[in-house]
Amino acid sequence: MSDKVMSDENDTNKEVNVGDEIARTQTPLRSAVVPMNSKGLRLRAEDLLDLTEGRVDREALQALAGQSIVEPRQFDRRTVVAIAQLAALLETRNVELDKPLDGKIAITAFFEPSTRTRLSFESAVQRLDGKVLSVPDGQVTGIAKGESLADIGEMFNTYGDVVIMRHPETDSVDEIRRNLQRPLINAGNGSGHHPTQALIDWYALLKWRPELSLANCPQDRKVHLGIIGTPGSMRAVKSFLRLSLMFEHAVSEITLISEMADPVGLDLIETIEASPIKISIVNDVQEVLPELNVVYVNSIAFLGDSYRNLDSRYKLDSNSDLKADAVVMHPLARNNELSDDLDETDHNLYFAQAAGAVFVRQALLASVLDRLDRITGI
Ligand code: CP
Repeated sequence: MSDKVMSDENDTNKEVNVGDEIARTQTPLRSAVVPMNSKGLRLRAEDLLDLTEGRVDREALQALAGQSIVEPRQFDRRTVVAIAQLAALLETRNVELDKPLDGKIAITAFFEPSTRTRLSFESAVQRLDGKVLSVPDGQVTGIAKGESLADIGEMFNTYGDVVIMRHPETDSVDEIRRNLQRPLINAGNGSGHHPTQALIDWYALLKWRPELSLANCPQDRKVHLGIIGTPGSMRAVKSFLRLSLMFEHAVSEITLISEMADPVGLDLIETIEASPIKISIVNDVQEVLPELNVVYVNSIAFLGDSYRNLDSRYKLDSNSDLKADAVVMHPLARNNELSDDLDETDHNLYFAQAAGAVFVRQALLASVLDRLDRITGI
């Protein structure tokens, strides 16, 4: 037998001595790094850490212990930045992990399709040495026989330690929480909320322009956000807007771009009216595109029991009149509204956005499950 072994899968070129093997096996698998050949902008999590001198606002994270994560209003800017700081430490592998979720079971219950959210949550749990019970399709549960979500919530109490649920009904979160006593993480409920997506969106923005995390963000680093879509019926757009409204020191202006006269919806209007950020609504994307630093677009509007794609007028491609250094964000999955000819350009923040998901979800799970003490270096 060789006296050298390969290190873990993330350090494939590094050899370690067999004598170091005991120490190595006690060090759990660390976070994956983003493959170097991904298209679009490459963000450096180090840039965010440099600005905050590698510190994490641990107190803000500890406040999440045992909490359900239902909607973005539960957060404030301090918490969003703290999650991003821990995510950056995990991404850059600047922390030691002592099997943070060992002994914990996460139930991922998806009653609606997902590529990114379910799999990145499951990856996050497993990379922190927890275990997963996965329901990738609600139709394999008693739902197909008429069972209620409230009853399923009662069952989950003994099957797992945290429940991560996506459901097409907006009231599904209230329904399952009638009996569920474990923390629930809302992974998207109808036209309601997608709070962890918004954390991922802001993690990407804070890596792209770390000064946005500062209370005294320099004037010339502030951003004008353009949001294409209808926050009233698009949960990812709504959650992104809600979090963005918390960054009033860094967001100079928000323009909502929608074919609808009132794209906002009742539950957001009060927050918008109270915000010091200048907010306007236009329906012609061309009118405002050259002024935007960030363009957030989403394809899916949830209308009752069906989905609708954006009007083709709102399509973005490499001929769109974007500022040279503007970035395009999209929670994905995309349709025709986002051309793949933008993928190879530096406008593409959307792949980096998706790539940050595992680290943000790791940070959130370690906080909610009260296992920050198993992460050394924060
Ligand atoms: N962004 C997002 O929610 O993607 P999925 O629908 O693939 O989970």
